[in-house]
Amino acid sequence: MCGIIGIVSKTEVLEKLIKGLKQLEYRGYDSSGVVTTNSNSFCRRRSSGKLVNLKKQLKEKPISGTIGIGHTRWATHGKPTEKNAHPHLTENVGLVHNGIIENYSELKESLNLKQVKFNSETDTEVITKLVEIELTENGLSPEDAVKVTLKKLKGSFALCFIFRGLENLLIATKRGSPLALGYGKNEMFVGSDASSLSLFTRKICYLEEGDFAIINREKVSILDCNYNEIARKIIQVSVDTGVLSKGSYKHFMQKEIFEQPAVISQVLGYYLNASDDSLTLQKYPSVKKTSRIILIGCGTAYYASLVGKYWIEKISGIPCSVELASEFRYREPIVNFNDLVVVVSQSGETADTLGALRHAKKFCKNICAIVNVEESSIAREANWVFPIKAGPEIGVASTKAFVCQLLVLMFLNMAFAEELNRLNENDKQKLFKGLLELPRIFTDILSKTKNLKKISKKLSAYKSVLFLGRDLLYPIALEGALKLKEISYIHSEGYASGELKHGPIALIDKDMPIIAINPKTDVFEKVNSNLEEVKARKGKLFLFTDNFGKSQSGNLTKAIFELPTCAALLEPIVYSLPMQLLAYFTALDKGTDVDQPRNLAKSVTVE
Ligand code: AGP
Repeated sequence: MCGIIGIVSKTEVLEKLIKGLKQLEYRGYDSSGVVTTNSNSFCRRRSSGKLVNLKKQLKEKPISGTIGIGHTRWATHGKPTEKNAHPHLTENVGLVHNGIIENYSELKESLNLKQVKFNSETDTEVITKLVEIELTENGLSPEDAVKVTLKKLKGSFALCFIFRGLENLLIATKRGSPLALGYGKNEMFVGSDASSLSLFTRKICYLEEGDFAIINREKVSILDCNYNEIARKIIQVSVDTGVLSKGSYKHFMQKEIFEQPAVISQVLGYYLNASDDSLTLQKYPSVKKTSRIILIGCGTAYYASLVGKYWIEKISGIPCSVELASEFRYREPIVNFNDLVVVVSQSGETADTLGALRHAKKFCKNICAIVNVEESSIAREANWVFPIKAGPEIGVASTKAFVCQLLVLMFLNMAFAEELNRLNENDKQKLFKGLLELPRIFTDILSKTKNLKKISKKLSAYKSVLFLGRDLLYPIALEGALKLKEISYIHSEGYASGELKHGPIALIDKDMPIIAINPKTDVFEKVNSNLEEVKARKGKLFLFTDNFGKSQSGNLTKAIFELPTCAALLEPIVYSLPMQLLAYFTALDKGTDVDQPRNLAKSVTVE
């Protein structure tokens, strides 16, 4: 996902622009650039690859100015080259953009007919050309030139404009992609999220859909989608710049995996009263009349939702369906007024999930959001927000957020079950005890990674890996496969182990490693027989189990990773940890970019 930064100040801005872009690196990108305007000219530098390349250019050819914009680009239209990197310029207009202009090709065609020349393959450059025409041919002011142009655009955008020679004017506007303003002393900031601004100010305001901001260093005026002046709430953000550093860890992903015991304790503290085993969760939608719960997410959030489905139907007894956000609104789903929709999203900005929320909202009133970023678009558009309190997650591969999503899904489920009198005191006590043991269990596993590193070393030699799980652990097999593929680039597939004989068993031979998740559960024996089938075909079995499983399955394989026993219902949470570590260590062996894997973005704000 692209990152935007804009600054208008009384002092030089270049250093701050680069610092802001550094804070946005976690979103994933493949080129970057900055532009200032100074003594009536633009000074621009752009480069493909990482920020280090841009900094090298700036060292050789520095730029100056007290106003500027910057951008990290995750390529959508056009290859990740310097030519396609933002900011895009015409003679008088500079622009950075996050989003997709869906009608850019027809706009480009109409400009080509006017012999307008293009220097890039991007949709963004079309916007600069349109504004330039309104400025120079139609004599409009920068503000009106942008307003007229916006009417022609279809799709999603967060835009920040700069104008040649105007050293005290930025224009920022958004439709579908996030954008925030930062309030400084005699300087103002524009950024894609709070973290990009948190080094400069804590006073942040998030623009709403269609907002149009005219930004000077002394003041900001925000117009709503009808261009009426409006006051947007200024919040004191909680982003602590310390969390945006790796500390003593090599990668953000490593830090986020290893801080999970502390994060889990924090989330338990937020949602549970350990003193009297009660939930602090008082405000949630009543499920007395709920006919069905629909869980919606993408990627890891979707797999968390799959676990949520098993839990909800086992504990609350409410029919539950799970939807891929990117499919949901296009398949004309049946959504009833009495349904309860729960969207799950770490960033709260995933375009597919936001689109699914907006679609569901047309049919039912109870829309819940389980999010990490509490000021996000999804949080703002839901009727109920349940924060996962994981703290900023910088690594593109989701780890602590996944575990916290599971925790919040469990808390919500417990609240529903209590309201429906489906959670007896004994089961409730067992669940509370199991939840409170999680930080210790995670600490225990994190202290014994030697064996896991050996398994990862072996895995890194393979081209393909199968992950098997059943019942509550089937979604963890899917999540484990996603973790491995997205950071080590090894093709991995997760399967319900009962599915093996319906096709995938054809893949099993001595060259196929199988990661099997099979602790003591009601389906332990069933999975064990699936694993016998693997062994009979010389599949390379790596078994993740507890001491019961180890005692029963020792004959199947030597490569056993034993985990501490835990409450059966909470095994999905516990067994997600070795899946994260497996992916992390394998990626280290492969030498891939762990925190910013190729082609990926931390939050996909385009469809
Ligand atoms: C997870 O490791 C991936 N990076 C990706 O699947 C992610 O979970 C998905 O894009 C959803 O993101 P969200 O939770 O921010 O909506």
